[in-house]
Amino acid sequence: MLRVALEFIQPGMKVARPIYDSRGRLLLGVGTELTAAYVRRLSEMNIAAVYITDDMFEELDEVPDVVSRQNRLEAIKSVKSVYQDLEKNRRIDVNAVSKAVDNLLDEILGNRNIMINCSDIMTYDDYTFNHSVGVCILSVMAGIVLGYNHLQLKELGIGAILHDVGKIKIEKAILNKPGKLTEEEYEKIKCHAEHGFEILRRYHGISTLSAHIAFQHHERWNGEGYPRSLAGKQIHEYSRIVAVADVFDALTTERPYSKAVPVIEAMSYIKSTSNVLFEENAAEALMSNVAPYPLGSIVKLNTGHIGRVVNVSRDAPFQPVVRIMFSENYRRLFASYEIDLSKMDDLYITQLLSEKEVVELMNFS
Ligand SMILES: [Fe+2]
Repeated sequence: MLRVALEFIQPGMKVARPIYDSRGRLLLGVGTELTAAYVRRLSEMNIAAVYITDDMFEELDEVPDVVSRQNRLEAIKSVKSVYQDLEKNRRIDVNAVSKAVDNLLDEILGNRNIMINCSDIMTYDDYTFNHSVGVCILSVMAGIVLGYNHLQLKELGIGAILHDVGKIKIEKAILNKPGKLTEEEYEKIKCHAEHGFEILRRYHGISTLSAHIAFQHHERWNGEGYPRSLAGKQIHEYSRIVAVADVFDALTTERPYSKAVPVIEAMSYIKSTSNVLFEENAAEALMSNVAPYPLGSIVKLNTGHIGRVVNVSRDAPFQPVVRIMFSENYRRLFASYEIDLSKMDDLYITQLLSEKEVVELMNFS
């Protein structure tokens, strides 16, 4: 299974992972052979990439996910309802959100060994809701690493999933504007943090600390965030976690006006800004749950050999098990073999192949 951006899809490639819309309706089933017409249709629906099967690389078993598709979709739906209710000036259904967060939490607690490997591809229209759930999952997993109890995880989860609700008060034309914002527009966007706090603090069922996550998720460790330019420990620890989760999820997800960045690049960005923009502890706790080279990634070793990541462990996430399939001069090996990099001192990954390079490799062989 290989994730391929729409621009590199070629007719005849087959769908390896079903694509759903936010209502859980199946858009493309497993095994569907892609045609030029399908690709056009996907592009009209703002779908940026498809997981395809690749005979060249042996099939990878179903990639385990910390959260089942069912629970993820339920959570996305509950966030969507919150936004819809607020748009119509109705009270939000706190119980429904609470239930959705409980379900995510139960599943995450039951899957403690699984690392975050890949995410479903959603249409851009669902970006906000999908992102909210992604931020919730990343934050809760970081909270577990930091030793939070169930009550704390719940407060963190509710605040994380609702961190951006204040955006409901911002003009759509500004929110969805492609390209650079004017200073005035940016000032307006910044107000979403306080709006979110004002909305959430009115609900008995939502803890004040959760509401503060909406207020503080754009504050930065060095004091250069907004809206109040809080710094260091003035920022509540929940918000310090959600700040990292928000940026990390945004970077690694396909968004309307920007491409997803590989996990390894997002990680190095977060690492390089730790202690500056983000608290180091929070950043490290969050990233310890993420596989730097997600299962299925195609990587090059220092020897020039190319292979696919087939297993990764929490103990040595940067040294996964790789199934070598190409020799150093791009020649396909007669028989592939696996190497556990955590057991080989002299072998290491030097490069993650881009989607374009992988498609070229497939055509080449
Ligand atoms: Fe935000």
